[in-house]
Amino acid sequence: MSRVEDTTGREALLKAAGVKSGRVLDIGMGGCACMALYLARKGYDVTGIDRSSHAIHRARENAKGKRLRGEFTARRADATNLPFESDTFDVVISFHSLHHIDRPIAALREMFRVCRPGGKVLISDLNPTGVKLYKHKHDAARLLALVEREARRLGAAVKIADTRLDRLFVCAKR
Ligand SMILES: C[S@@+](CC[C@H](N)C(=O)[O-])C[C@H]1O[C@@H](n2cnc3c(N)ncnc32)[C@H](O)[C@@H]1O
Repeated sequence: MSRVEDTTGREALLKAAGVKSGRVLDIGMGGCACMALYLARKGYDVTGIDRSSHAIHRARENAKGKRLRGEFTARRADATNLPFESDTFDVVISFHSLHHIDRPIAALREMFRVCRPGGKVLISDLNPTGVKLYKHKHDAARLLALVEREARRLGAAVKIADTRLDRLFVCAKR
């Protein structure tokens, strides 16, 4: 049986969020679509977007043969200009993708726009320890501070937690 392993804190993010079901958007899902397929296996209906057509192709291939209890849709889109109506999703997630996006705060604003009031915007991104381990070059402390400031500016109730490698933001949209 094929499996989607939880090796990088996916469960930690879900637990911190306390969400159990709903319509989910995963931005920058990547070709492995690890978070998106993990959620679809658990029964969430997931739309994953990525700006790379190669990633979309690989994500669809990866979904084949997986025992998904929820629906999974892969769609090419730019996280900074999402092709969805406002207030559409119950949960909007960025899992290890914000630091890959050229304009992360523009993407964060879009995540909040398409999340319904009362829904959750969930972000997991590398903390300074994670950056070292994954040999990334960006300034994690700066990005994480910007994310927190913008989420609060947008009026969200923000809970923050750390795993060994990640900073988790659980934001409730008012
Ligand atoms: C490290 S992967 C994300 C990993 C994935 N979320 C997971 O669950 O493991 C980062 C992805 O972000 C995508 N990306 C970068 N900029 C983007 C943008 N502006 N809009 C959408 N996707 C973007 C890249 O194409 C890449 O596939």
